[in-house]
Amino acid sequence: MSAPAISAPDAAQQPEQEVEVLHWWTAKGEIKAAEVLQGSLEQQHIGWKNFAIAGGGGESAMTVLKSRAVSGNPPSAAQLKGYDLQEWGMLGFLTNLDAVANTQGWDQLLPPVISQIMKYQGHYVAVPVNIHRVNWLWINPELLEKAGATVPDSLESFFAAAEKLKQANIVPVALGSDPWQEVTLFESVALAVLGPQGYRRAFVDLDPDMLSGESMVDVFRQFERMRQYIDVKTKALEWSDASAMLVEGKAAMQFMGDWAKGEFSALGKAPGQEILCVPAPGTQGFFTYNIDSFAFFKHSDDLSIQAQETMAQTILTPAFQREFNLAKGSIPVRTDVDLTGFDTCSLASSTAFQLNQQNNTLVPSISQGLASTSYVQAAIFDVVTDFFHSKQADPEKAANQLARAVKSAR
Ligand code: GAL
Repeated sequence: MSAPAISAPDAAQQPEQEVEVLHWWTAKGEIKAAEVLQGSLEQQHIGWKNFAIAGGGGESAMTVLKSRAVSGNPPSAAQLKGYDLQEWGMLGFLTNLDAVANTQGWDQLLPPVISQIMKYQGHYVAVPVNIHRVNWLWINPELLEKAGATVPDSLESFFAAAEKLKQANIVPVALGSDPWQEVTLFESVALAVLGPQGYRRAFVDLDPDMLSGESMVDVFRQFERMRQYIDVKTKALEWSDASAMLVEGKAAMQFMGDWAKGEFSALGKAPGQEILCVPAPGTQGFFTYNIDSFAFFKHSDDLSIQAQETMAQTILTPAFQREFNLAKGSIPVRTDVDLTGFDTCSLASSTAFQLNQQNNTLVPSISQGLASTSYVQAAIFDVVTDFFHSKQADPEKAANQLARAVKSAR
């Protein structure tokens, strides 16, 4: 029997339109979420050219994006968020999305705190994908029980639980060695000590007295206490490797945003049951936000522009918002999406977001680039990671260094 003729792919099957998307979602849970976006576009006959750059937090991805843009060959779309949108908007690279936003009513659909982040000089330059809550503590309950420890709800009860775990020879806290992971821990300690107003005065207003004052010294003091409960020598540990340590019973707790929830789900663990979610100790009732978004780089041909507009519009449909956020561990940016089927952690996140939005106590994540420019963020990263790894950590000196470093980065 002759081999079946291998026909050239039918031209009708080749997507005419295509988007090349730069992102850093390469962990198991992140891949599942990215595949929801890919599927949503392919259903509309838009090809997906995956441009994934590994490295949680996106630092490597941003380096690659800069080289692509500078060489005049930017991707169609890139995962860009927070203050980076202002910097890229100022450089003139980003497509104006007002037409799609007006058609779909983004100003009515989105919480004001989110629509403001998406605009440069009053025009939409990005579409928001999700709302991640960063001030979470994830817990393996079996290990806590084994050590006779209880779920912490304050810094003091956290240190008590961590001490019991340490005495039981269980690694209390899993933390990777990236500065952004250390700052994710630092910012939750800061929120616990300073409260939302103090946090914003320090890290949004960049008030020098707040940055160098006694309360910031106490933040560094509490942060230093954390070190004894973290296996600091773990090298090159991705955030997702730290999440895996909880699943494998190699560590009891992880301070991380709820993208970790997507990872626990992808690893087969039920968040809120097999891996517990509690607000980072001392931050009960508060909400540190991280908003993922996609920006679109200027391209001249109509097919690319149409594909970009379709991608932006698709991301804010209720169906996509529901399916994507179920996989990503975040909650929808639209407040009118049915949360049936979301787990208790996400429901708690949604309740906390709405409460903090009403009370104007939402705080932006420092580690995720939502609080300040990349220059100020880099200054904070340097001071915090140096302090965390210093043999002679001095809280008072660190607070003064922080104020000076931020001042010079403004
Ligand atoms: C953040 C991003 C999240 C999550 C995390 C870990 O910057 O906003 O979506 O993926 O990095 O890679």
